[in-house]
Amino acid sequence: MAAASEPGRVALAYPKFKRHFSDFIGVADDGHLWVDGRDCVELAETFGTPLYVLSEGQFRHNARRFLDAFGAHYPDVEVLYANKANNALAVRHIMTQEGAGGDAFGVGEMYFALLCGTPGSKLVLNGSNKSPAEIAIAVENGVCINLDSDDEVEMVAAVALECGRVAEVGIRTKLELKPLENRFGIPMHGEGSMAEQSHACKWGMTYPQTVAMVKRIQGIESLRLREISYHLSRMDNNADDFAVMAREMIDWCARLHGDTGWAPPTIDIGGGWAYGRPEKTGPFGLDDENTPSFEDFAAAVCPAIIEACEAHGLPLPGLRIEPGRAIAGTCGIALGRVGAIKTQPEYGKTWVHVDLSSNHLPRAMTTVYNHIVAADRASAPCTETVDVVGGLCIPDILGAGRELPAIARGDLLASLDTGAYCECVSLNFNAECRPATVMVTGSNAEVTTERERLTDVMARFRVPAHLMELSGARA
Ligand SMILES: Cc1ncc(COP(=O)(O)O)c(C=O)c1O
Repeated sequence: MAAASEPGRVALAYPKFKRHFSDFIGVADDGHLWVDGRDCVELAETFGTPLYVLSEGQFRHNARRFLDAFGAHYPDVEVLYANKANNALAVRHIMTQEGAGGDAFGVGEMYFALLCGTPGSKLVLNGSNKSPAEIAIAVENGVCINLDSDDEVEMVAAVALECGRVAEVGIRTKLELKPLENRFGIPMHGEGSMAEQSHACKWGMTYPQTVAMVKRIQGIESLRLREISYHLSRMDNNADDFAVMAREMIDWCARLHGDTGWAPPTIDIGGGWAYGRPEKTGPFGLDDENTPSFEDFAAAVCPAIIEACEAHGLPLPGLRIEPGRAIAGTCGIALGRVGAIKTQPEYGKTWVHVDLSSNHLPRAMTTVYNHIVAADRASAPCTETVDVVGGLCIPDILGAGRELPAIARGDLLASLDTGAYCECVSLNFNAECRPATVMVTGSNAEVTTERERLTDVMARFRVPAHLMELSGARA
């Protein structure tokens, strides 16, 4: 990638396509799907299928756009990329270079982020059952620990004492969300309204629990309270609902100030930010071109915080946001080679098999609408309606009733928007190997995750000697 155009920012060379699916992914003049400077047909031949492909430029672009969108409306904003969305090391390096901190859920993601040079002060550690070992790594590295159970106060204090350090802590809250009691979003966390879903989840402390925690922490020298956090999650794509949540965060700040004398210097309003495209994406295909943009979310949420602070006479807290899918989603595609095609006109069905499966696109079957295109004829008219399926011993539907051009064995299909929650949640069901990932930067493509081999899948298995003996094999 070219030299930096602004101090600290890598210059981005935006490709021009005849149809853009995102800034760096689209259909070129040859009718093929391209990721930045590479033709997907050629990438599939070079690296094999199934294959995840990521665009470095799109990661950088999305991180900047998020920060710029919120920065335009608020004086003190930090983007903490939610590492869980795509926790590959190469991605974390990019985020760190872009100045993004991170939400680390658990010791693994915290370790990866620290390994990639992310300063501990830009990380938060989330989780409702943290181990003493993970708390110790957080304390040693100045990572803010979002406390999420009563006894964590004493656990963290004890570890901090042992390390001879003051631990940075926040409190993960469970907001009341009264205005969302009759708002029914996506059933991300079971049935019920958005408020009911939030209340039914294990995360977060109620208001009385939060007050009690703050008071206890105030009496402990080895703890420094720095934030309260809340994560609304991807239950909804309505910017006003996020503004409701942000306003309640400030109401809590004011109440806490009254009840404990402590007003949080920072609020962390989590992730769950949606993105849409005309071809649709996101849970149940809800996210189309009417989905709020990053800028729309910022324009709704930031003034809500500022107004609530004015109303309560509070100074503006620092604002942390934890976008995961909104940054990573559009940065990736998954390529699958077409195999068997089965037609049963009496049932009105044609199944097009690809070597991708719901092991690789685990949420395709349930919640995510992954737009599928013919990568080698991405502009050809769609004449067939087919179910795109993988080959696993479950229905393995990657896309039901999809409109595609006539497809033959050997063709290449691409599933868009697979940069988030695909590789990091992929599985080995049916002893299937997981795909490789390549990252494209201009015309350069490099493997960032090795393709799994059967020996990798087997590597954790052990066969007791007596079983080997009974099988007539040598141990
Ligand atoms: C605490 C927290 N922050 C951020 C995120 C990222 O959410 P999303 O990828 O929907 O932005 C999650 C997702 O589960 C989360 O639990």
